[in-house]
Parts: sequence; structure tokens; C-alpha cells
Amino acid sequence: MRLANRTREVDFFKKMLRGEISQRILLIQAASGMGKTSLLAEFASLCPVHAEAAILVKINLKSAQTGIAYIFSKLQSRLGEDSFTKFNEALSKFLSAGVEVADNQIEGTENQIQVVLNAESEDIRNFRLSQLQRAFFQDLQAVKKQILMILDTFNEAPINLADWIGGGFLAEVAESNNIRVVIAGQSVPKPTIEWEDLADTHCLDRIDDIEAWHLFVQARGLPFEREAVKAFVRVLNGNPDAIMKVFESQAGGWKHE
Ligand SMILES: Nc1ncnc2c1ncn2[C@@H]1O[C@H](COP(=O)(O)OP(=O)(O)OP(=O)(O)O)[C@@H](O)[C@H]1O
Ligand SMILES: [Mg+2]
Repeated sequence: MRLANRTREVDFFKKMLRGEISQRILLIQAASGMGKTSLLAEFASLCPVHAEAAILVKINLKSAQTGIAYIFSKLQSRLGEDSFTKFNEALSKFLSAGVEVADNQIEGTENQIQVVLNAESEDIRNFRLSQLQRAFFQDLQAVKKQILMILDTFNEAPINLADWIGGGFLAEVAESNNIRVVIAGQSVPKPTIEWEDLADTHCLDRIDDIEAWHLFVQARGLPFEREAVKAFVRVLNGNPDAIMKVFESQAGGWKHE
């Protein structure tokens, strides 16, 4: 057992994955230490069980310091260059049109995308981005499998990446029936008219359900009686991070997964 409680979120995710509900965008918002990253790890482990053929792509937005280009290139390397005919065509078109490239032998797709998106005028940049993103999502829609994207730490994404995820990216996801997205963060994108009907936001709160913690402790083989669990949970206000730290330190040499 990886988690205490969080059954509501896990149930929702399973239904979303199996296509039993219309929502395809799940937003998980909570303060630090409430268990967003832990919950995403649980979601990822459920993916092969509930959607065997799905392609899972996990991205920590904290690492996306090159911005939008990072997302394109991460998905490309996960799905394979061959799946991106339209996108690569659009990219080459911009590159061969001279896109202010002094040295047109730019190495690596991520760099190429960055160069194309690095236009000096906002209008040109937006035009290029809309062309690239359209081609990219057409390629993704043509993939004959479900694609599940799990994006963590939205609050640490660079500003223009965060704006794009909440704007063009999720608007394209809304048009792509084979794509499901989970986004977690201390903040999450603000719903827009283009995708709000397909999204559900879950706020993770403290876990003060003693029974849930007691079951968790038993499943993990931790040496605590129900009364001790109750005392920890009360004193630590149901904060999962603090509770786990105490369990760990009190249980001596015990290490969690
Ligand atoms: N439901 C849970 N059951 C058991 N332990 C949990 C649970 N949620 C969180 N924890 C514990 O709390 C720790 C911190 O959780 P986590 O890293 O998932 O928080 P977070 O919400 O992602 O925080 P941040 O916003 O700082 O990234 C985990 O390492 C885990 O030990
Ligand atoms: Mg986290």
C-alpha cells in the first residue's frame, strides 16, 4: 500500500482512465507535503492495470526550464520521432524559411523548437506556436492508442510554459479524444471555456481519518498500535508528510518504498 486514504481521487482517476466518465483532465491542487507527487506515483502504477495499452508520459514541470520546447521534445522522445510527421514538417518549414538562424545547423530537436519559438515579436511567436501545436496534436491524435500525460509541479513551470499549458495545450487536449492529462501543483491552471467541461479539480486536504492511517500502518508492517497512530495523526494535524516522517523516525531502521 503506497498511500493512506486518497480513495476518492484514485477512484476518479480509474474511471477517467477507463473512459467511464466524460472528463479527461484531472487537476490536483494542494499545499506542499499533502501528497500530490505520491498520488501521481500511484496513478502511474495503476495505468498498466486499468489501461494496458496506454502510453504513459510523466513530466516534472520543474525540469522544464527550456519551456514549451521541453514538452514537445519529451513527448517526441517517448513516442518516437516517426510519430511526428506533421510536426517535423512544420518545424522544418520554419527552419528552412530562415527563422533568424545564423547557424542553420542547429543540433537537436529541442534546440530547433526553441529557436523557432524564440521570435522577437510576440505575434510571430504566437503564430509559430499555434502552427506547431496544431501539427503536434494532429500527430498525437493519429496515434492509435490512449496517451496519458502526468504533469507534476505545475507551480514551478516557467511562466510562458504555464500560460501555454492552461491555454493552447489544454484546448488541444480537449479536441483529442485519445489524450488524458493529470496536472498537479500547489497551483493548477485556471479553467478556460475551451476545456473546463472536460476537467475536474481535486484539492488534497490533510488526512485525519485514523482508520485510514491505521490500515496503512498495518499494510506496511509498521510497529504502531491504533492508539499511537491516533496520537500521531492528532498532534501532526493530519499532515501526511509530517506523519510519514514521524513513522519513519519512530520505526527505527524501517525504510519506506
Ligand atoms: N496519502 C499518503 N499516505 C502516506 N504518505 C503520504 C501520503 N501523502 C503524502 N505522504 C508522505 O508525504 C511525503 C510528501 O508528499 P509529496 O512529496 O507527495 O507531497 P507534494 O504534495 O508533492 O509536495 P510538494 O508540493 O512540495 O511537491 C511523501 O514522501 C510521503 O512520505
Ligand atoms: Mg510534489
